[in-house]
Amino acid sequence: MASSRRILLLVMVRVAIIIGMMRIKDVDTMIMTTIKGCPQLETIARNITWTRVAADPTLAPKLLRLHFHDCFVRGCDASILLDSTASNSAEKDAIPNQTVAGYEVIDEIKARLEVVCPSSVSCADIVALAARDAVSFQVGPMWPVSIGRKDGRVSSSSEASANLPSPFSNFTTLLQDFKNKGLDLQDLVALSGAHTIGVGHCGLISDRLFNFTGVGDTDPSIARVYASLLRAKCSNLGANNNVVDPAIEMDPGSGSSFDTHYYTALRQNQGLFESDAALLTDQRSARMSRVFETNRELFFVAFGQSMVKMGAIGGVGAGEIRKNCHVIN
Ligand SMILES: *[C@@H]1O[C@H](CO)[C@@H](O)[C@H](O)[C@H]1NC(C)=O
Ligand SMILES: *[C@@H]1O[C@H](CO)[C@@H](O)[C@H](O)[C@H]1NC(C)=O
Ligand SMILES: *[C@@H]1O[C@H](CO)[C@@H](O)[C@H](O)[C@H]1NC(C)=O
Ligand SMILES: *[C@@H]1O[C@H](CO)[C@@H](O)[C@H](O)[C@H]1NC(C)=O
Repeated sequence: MASSRRILLLVMVRVAIIIGMMRIKDVDTMIMTTIKGCPQLETIARNITWTRVAADPTLAPKLLRLHFHDCFVRGCDASILLDSTASNSAEKDAIPNQTVAGYEVIDEIKARLEVVCPSSVSCADIVALAARDAVSFQVGPMWPVSIGRKDGRVSSSSEASANLPSPFSNFTTLLQDFKNKGLDLQDLVALSGAHTIGVGHCGLISDRLFNFTGVGDTDPSIARVYASLLRAKCSNLGANNNVVDPAIEMDPGSGSSFDTHYYTALRQNQGLFESDAALLTDQRSARMSRVFETNRELFFVAFGQSMVKMGAIGGVGAGEIRKNCHVIN
């Protein structure tokens, strides 16, 4: 009974993926491919990203996150890259930005491209390519990146706070946040798998650990042993203003390899954020994460498919091709 249900789910996921492949084609035709204008684009982007990630593997999750944050606010238009000005607080400076980084990789690719094929590749496309290449450095190419996005001229920190899924959200809110961007439950579960690499910080889980319901308690959904380990790591947070907020792997024990272990951790009640643990509170997403846990290839295909959908939020967009990713032309 249980196993036949699992097979049925597998079939459902596969069908969803086939449908997804068809959607990828639509996305490809939707976004104009202007790679013709700069045939070296993919090689240059890959070379620089791989070189940087080889030297500093912690850049991989950061570049992935940069693309994610960009796309969820105003579509993938490099609004995340704009610096604040005297009169405008940019997306970058919104609170959820804190673990976003990798800007210097984007700048390096941009500088090189402006020499080889000036004003022909947007910063938004570079962010999309760097995210893919950062992950594929470890596991090989996983999805096609469409080119042709325009860079936006607006970046606002308040919009970032309003649009980005929060690590404190429950399942209902997360799914709604994703639906608002045209993404579905499978995208939510697959893209959450990005937490297989990278770290989170104590500041985002201290309530879960020390004051979950306001009576000095711990979120009972965290596995006991894991919870006490986290409490020990985070106990000094806020002890003085200079203390660095400790980093914790989002996929405990496997935070530097892009694999399915994130889903194993989830099943063992070791999801770091409430938004991770939330995937277990819905039957469909819990079952889907079990499927991804036991089928690496399927997870990779689903992840790539969801990245393509995410990379198409907002379509080509209106705007320009920035000369410098930090400022509008
Ligand atoms: C990649 O970059 C390195 C160093 O910048 C350079 O030496 C090498 O020729 C580049 N390779 C390709 C294929 O562009
Ligand atoms: C993130 O935002 C904070 C302010 O909230 C700002 O001080 C910091 O420089 C920003 N980080 C990056 C990498 O832009
Ligand atoms: C989820 O969170 C939202 C926003 O905080 C809240 O309104 C809703 O009641 C929560 N849903 C569940 C099922 O807890
Ligand atoms: C725990 O939460 C309650 C209710 O929000 C608050 O009154 C209390 O100060 C918090 N305790 C600590 C130690 O932060």
